[in-house]
Order: sequence, then C-alpha cells, then structure tokens
Amino acid sequence: MTDTLVIYYSFTGNSKKVSEYVKEKLNEKDRKANILELEPKVPFSTDYDEVVEEWQNNDIKKDVEIKEVTIDLSKYKKIVLITCTWWYGISPVMKRFLKDYDLSGKDIIVASSNAGWLGHCFRDYKTLLPNSNIKGELDLVFSSNEQERDKMLTTQEEIDKWIEKLN
Ligand SMILES: Cc1cc2nc3c(=O)[nH]c(=O)nc-3n(C[C@H](O)[C@H](O)[C@H](O)COP(=O)(O)O)c2cc1C
Repeated sequence: MTDTLVIYYSFTGNSKKVSEYVKEKLNEKDRKANILELEPKVPFSTDYDEVVEEWQNNDIKKDVEIKEVTIDLSKYKKIVLITCTWWYGISPVMKRFLKDYDLSGKDIIVASSNAGWLGHCFRDYKTLLPNSNIKGELDLVFSSNEQERDKMLTTQEEIDKWIEKLN
C-alpha cells in the first residue's frame, strides 16, 4: 500500500537530495512512498544572489504562484515536508502549497534546510498546518560557506531518527 508522500521544494538541490533519500529509506522498510516536487509557475532567476536579494522579508511582502499539484493527496495518510529556508522562514513555494492544499488530519514530519539560521520555519509550518498532526521537526543544516553550500552538517542518523517519528 502506498501511504506516504514526500513533498519538497528545493532551489539549489539540498532539500531535493534529502527528499530522495527519505523516499528510498521509507521504501526500504516496506512502505511504499511517493515523491512530489513543488515548483513555482515562473522559474526563479538562476542568479543566486539576485534571488536572495529579491526575496528579503519573504514572509510579509511577496507571494508566488506554483504549478498545479495533480497527485491525489487524499490517498496519503502520512506526509513528509521538506523545503529550503528563505529569509528565516519556509520558502514561499512551500507556503503557497500549504495555503492552497488541505493536509488536515494527516500525520506529518517537517524539515527546513538552512545554512544555520532556521528562524521561524517550524512556527510557519505550525501556523499553516493547524489541523494536522506534526510528529517531528528536523533542523536540516548545510554549510554556510559559499564554496560548499551543499555540504550537509546534519547527520544521516539524525535524519533516520526523524523519519522514525512518522511511525
Ligand atoms: C533567497 C534565499 C534566502 C535564504 N535565507 C536563508 C535563511 O534565512 N537562513 C538560512 O540558514 N539559510 C538561508 N538560505 C540558504 C538556504 O536555506 C540553504 O542553502 C538551503 O540548504 C538550500 O536548500 P535547497 O538547496 O534545497 O534550496 C537562503 C537561500 C536563499 C536562496
């Protein structure tokens, strides 16, 4: 039975890598998991610094449209949410998704990948998921060093423990 859906948004690939790992890990344990990538309707600039600049204070000023989700979310009892952190909050893409789609009543674990400044990501998730059961939160830390932004500092063991919370 397919019962878990991993939903992620990733700008530079860190959250994507972890999402794929989580999916594989769940499938290893005889639980068929699927994966869904969220995408903005209009792609962001490929210039990293330009995007950082543009999305300052993303929590109050701006909104973004996302591509329609065609997967039937009602089939899944358990959800894994992973996004990058943008300006101390969850990414505007993940925010848009949580505003537009209803995950009420589901068991959920959440993660926000960041470079050391997680800010209010967990609060964002809680606010946008008032009727869901958030069973675990993961502070997913990558290097803040420009040369190695894809170096994960959170250990695989920590990720595995977090996945267990969905059981
Ligand atoms: C627009 C923008 C804003 C960011 N804001 C933060 C932040 O507030 N705190 C932080 O720790 N990292 C911040 N980062 C870094 C990313 O969260 C971090 O590199 C993350 O691992 C990237 O995940 P991804 O590869 O899935 O996009 C920001 C990056 C971008 C592009």
